[in-house]
Amino acid sequence: MPTLFEPLTLGALALPNRIIMAPLTRGRATKAAVPTAIMGEYYAQRAGAGLIISEATGISREGLGWPFAPGLWNNEQVEGWKPAVAAVHDAGGRIVAQLWHMGRLVHHNVSGMAAVSASATRGPNKAHTYDGKQVLPEAHAATADDIAHILGDYAAAARNAIAAGFDGVQIHSANGYLIDQFLRDGTNLRDDGYGGPIANRLRFMREVVEAVASEVGIARTGIRLSPIGESQGANDSDNAALFTAAAKELEALDVPWIELREPGPHSTFRAADEPAVSPAMRRAYSGRIVLNSDYVGATAEAKLAEGVADAISFGRTFIANPDLVARIRSGAPLNEANPATFYSAGPEGYTDYPLRTEQEAA
Ligand SMILES: Cc1cc2nc3c(=O)[nH]c(=O)nc-3n(C[C@H](O)[C@H](O)[C@H](O)COP(=O)(O)O)c2cc1C
Repeated sequence: MPTLFEPLTLGALALPNRIIMAPLTRGRATKAAVPTAIMGEYYAQRAGAGLIISEATGISREGLGWPFAPGLWNNEQVEGWKPAVAAVHDAGGRIVAQLWHMGRLVHHNVSGMAAVSASATRGPNKAHTYDGKQVLPEAHAATADDIAHILGDYAAAARNAIAAGFDGVQIHSANGYLIDQFLRDGTNLRDDGYGGPIANRLRFMREVVEAVASEVGIARTGIRLSPIGESQGANDSDNAALFTAAAKELEALDVPWIELREPGPHSTFRAADEPAVSPAMRRAYSGRIVLNSDYVGATAEAKLAEGVADAISFGRTFIANPDLVARIRSGAPLNEANPATFYSAGPEGYTDYPLRTEQEAA
C-alpha cells in the first residue's frame, strides 16, 4: 500500500506526495473579488503540499455570496490570481482553482443580485454579509435560460483559471452549494429533466463537468462532493444511492479525481452520523479518491492502507501549519488553528503561523 510520501497522478497533475491542501475560504480578496498580494504569500508558504486546492472562487457575481472571497469571472481577477499562482509554482508547488456557485446561499447584500437554486427554497442559516449575519431570502428556481448561463459561467471561469496559470480546476459540488442543491431531493423539488429520479438530479452536475472539461480538458478537471450527512440544509433521502450513482456518472465522464468531505460522527467540522459512502463509491469509480476531514498523519496513513483513499486532504491543519508535509514526515507537533482569524483580514492567523524551524530556533 502507498504511503503519504509516494507520488500520485491525478489526470494531468503529477503530485510528489499525497498530502493535499483542502479548499479553505479565507476572505482576503477585495470587495470586487480580486485576489490580493498576501494571498500569494499564504499559498506559496504551503507549496510543499502534493497539491493545493484553492479557496472556493466565484464563477460569477450571481454565484458569490461570501464577503471578500475571490472570483474568476473577469480580467481584473485573472490578473490578481496570476502572481499568487506564480508564487506557488516558483516555490515548487501545484495549485488548482475551486470553482464555486453558492446558489441559494448567496445573500444579495454581497452579490447585489437575487439568488438562484434548483428550486424555490431558502437556506437554513444566516449568511455572512458585509453588514453582519443576515437571514437568507428565498432563491428562485433556475429556468432553462438560467441553467444555460450558469453553465456558460462555469466554462468561462475554468478558461480564466487556466489563463491565470492554475494547473487545473476542482468543481465545488459539495457542502450544500448550487450543484449539491441540484443533487439532493431535499433541495431539488423540480419535475423537469433536472429533478425527480437520481439520474435526472445528476444531470446538472454532469453538464457542469462537460462545460468545464470542454474548456480545460477532463485531465485537468476534478470535483468535490460531500456524500454523507446534511450540508447547510441540503439533504437527501438516500445519500448512499445518490452518491454511488454520482461516482458511476463521474466514471463515465472520465473525471480523474474526486475529493470527498466525509466527516465522522465526532468530527469538529460538520459531523455526520451516517456510514461512509466512500467504500461503495470506490467500487463504482476507478479514478483517484481523496478523502477529507479530521485527519492527522497517523490516521491518514491508516486510511491509505485501507485502500479506499489514494490521498488525504487537510484543511485546518494546513491553515495552522504551512510546513505540514515536513511536520508529518518528521512526526513534529502541530500548531493549533485559531478559528477567530479564519475569515478575518490581513496577515494575523493567515501568513504568520510559525514554521517548525523557526520554533526550534526560538
Ligand atoms: C475556514 C474554513 C474554510 C473552508 N472553506 C472551504 C471552501 O472554500 N471550500 C470547500 O469545499 N470547503 C471548505 N471548507 C471545508 C474544508 O475544506 C474541510 O472540509 C474541513 O476543514 C474539514 O477538514 P479538516 O478536518 O482537515 O479541517 C472550509 C473549512 C474551514 C474550517
